[in-house]
Amino acid sequence: MSFNFTEYPILKTERLILRKATDLDIAVVLELRSSEEINKFVGTKRIQNLEEASAFINSCNSLYDQHKRIFWLIEFQNQVIGSIVLHNISKVGAYAEIGYKLKPNFQQKGIMTEALQKVITFGFDKLALTTIEAFTHKNNIASIALLEKNGFVFLPKRKCITFNYNRIFKIRK
Ligand SMILES: CC(C)(COP(=O)(O)OP(=O)(O)OC[C@H]1O[C@@H](n2cnc3c(N)ncnc32)[C@H](O)[C@@H]1OP(=O)(O)O)[C@@H](O)C(=O)NCCC(=O)NCCS
Repeated sequence: MSFNFTEYPILKTERLILRKATDLDIAVVLELRSSEEINKFVGTKRIQNLEEASAFINSCNSLYDQHKRIFWLIEFQNQVIGSIVLHNISKVGAYAEIGYKLKPNFQQKGIMTEALQKVITFGFDKLALTTIEAFTHKNNIASIALLEKNGFVFLPKRKCITFNYNRIFKIRK
């Protein structure tokens, strides 16, 4: 059955819970979106303070209501350790883009592979997407390794207009 954007989807994997962000998560969202280490290869503007983090959560929830974005926080052992998002969702185009961030202490343990696989399956099976793309900095070795490990292919001819150093990867159902 297809997903109709009423109840926010909670996704569970062996180790993780992927869930909606609320006002209780403002501090961790600020951490994830302001850290220079986590965002080294991310071109979009850093969030500067709690007010901007709160506004970011509100904008995610508003875009969810418009069926354009699903932003999940990733919980591991009862703490938020990262985030994953499907955005620019287009039902007509059966298309979405994926993005992700993990706190440094939790990287290289297979955690984002676990989250990514769950979200891709949700996108294909529940949102009826046929294409998911990822835009990633050409030097972001970790992100490129994650994508290639999980079946994304590099699209050499597709160019990112906003950030010319980005490379675009795609997975099809
Ligand atoms: C990209 C990121 C999410 C990867 O998450 P992760 O949980 O560490 O990834 P996984 O442990 O599932 O690893 C997936 C594959 O990538 C490889 N990999 C992960 N980090 C790597 C690194 N720093 N260098 C080389 N390979 C790496 C893993 O070895 C694994 O491949 P393998 O199974 O063949 O060994 C994480 O590095 C991160 O949050 N980076 C900062 C945020 C960011 O850059 N986001 C992307 C913006 S486009």
